[in-house]
Amino acid sequence: MAEAIVVQGLKKIYKGHLGDSVAAVDDLNFQVDQGEIFGFIGPNGAGKTTTIKMLLGLLFPSSGKITVLGKPAGDIEAKKRISYLPESPYFYEHMTGIEVLDFYCKLFKMDSASRKRRIGELLEQVGLTKDGSRSLRQYSKGMLQRIGIAQSLINEPDLLIYDEPTSGLDPIAHKDIQDLILSLKKQGKTVFVSSHQLTDIESVCDKVAIINRGQLVKLGTMQELLQIGRTVITLSGPKDGFADEVKPLAERVSVEGEFMRVYTETGENVNKVLDASRGKASLVSVVPQKQTLEDLFVEIVREGRK
Ligand SMILES: Nc1ncnc2c1ncn2[C@@H]1O[C@H](COP(=O)(O)OP(=O)(O)OP(=O)(O)O)[C@@H](O)[C@H]1O
Ligand SMILES: [Mg+2]
Repeated sequence: MAEAIVVQGLKKIYKGHLGDSVAAVDDLNFQVDQGEIFGFIGPNGAGKTTTIKMLLGLLFPSSGKITVLGKPAGDIEAKKRISYLPESPYFYEHMTGIEVLDFYCKLFKMDSASRKRRIGELLEQVGLTKDGSRSLRQYSKGMLQRIGIAQSLINEPDLLIYDEPTSGLDPIAHKDIQDLILSLKKQGKTVFVSSHQLTDIESVCDKVAIINRGQLVKLGTMQELLQIGRTVITLSGPKDGFADEVKPLAERVSVEGEFMRVYTETGENVNKVLDASRGKASLVSVVPQKQTLEDLFVEIVREGRK
């Protein structure tokens, strides 16, 4: 499968007035395949927006290489096939939804009949058909975000780059935007979406990159990232010395009253602990702990702060 985005050794150093410098993006490497939804997540200040601006050619990297749709970042031909929804899209509030879309359609030099048809399609696609004639001043945050998405679809782009499309939205609006992103994938588009709304990412993304302090800390499919699970084995009435015996197989062993809990990586060690327990303790339960992306994220970010 062809790649939509390839990033190699990407770095961005911001230089301050006092001669200080911040490595906002520090040696990033990743690639996004065509047709996938790629989640780009990290805490505030991780370097998400900086990376996105470099992908779009709005900022120059300090070093490294970026290829977008087979062309260097910023290439005019590639740009025609890309669309960008910024972190906080800004629109003229006195305009109606239809007027705003019409304004952008004109930038694409569409004639009046095609503009009318396209605006109707776009409003329908983002669920704003009824609100097209209202001024944006009367729109809620979720509605503004939808108009932003409608605007991003005018030129029928192949690659969509959305910077935090769900930030500040309520759960229903979140879900709507997730569904919209999934429908774009069905149309064969590639979606690169940054967020710290981890639950959004978890449900829509094929692949996720987690960045922290400008560096990539994890990259993989949702399945790969989340299978690093643990299993908790609860036993009762352990014989003396049994806790010490299983310690090498476990990340942690705790004994509370007559119960003993063994926290171990899901996999072979679970069998080993169970084998070792025969005749030395009674089995109460074996519970796999499914890790959510949120757990993983918090763990990674905390690890980075140590
Ligand atoms: N124009 C700039 N000049 C100097 N430093 C900057 C500039 N823009 C961003 N930074 C710094 O670069 C780092 C990364 O910022 P960036 O905006 O890319 O993060 P982000 O992941 O998008 O964060 P958020 O989730 O808050 O949007 C931060 O330390 C930020 O302070
Ligand atoms: Mg940002």
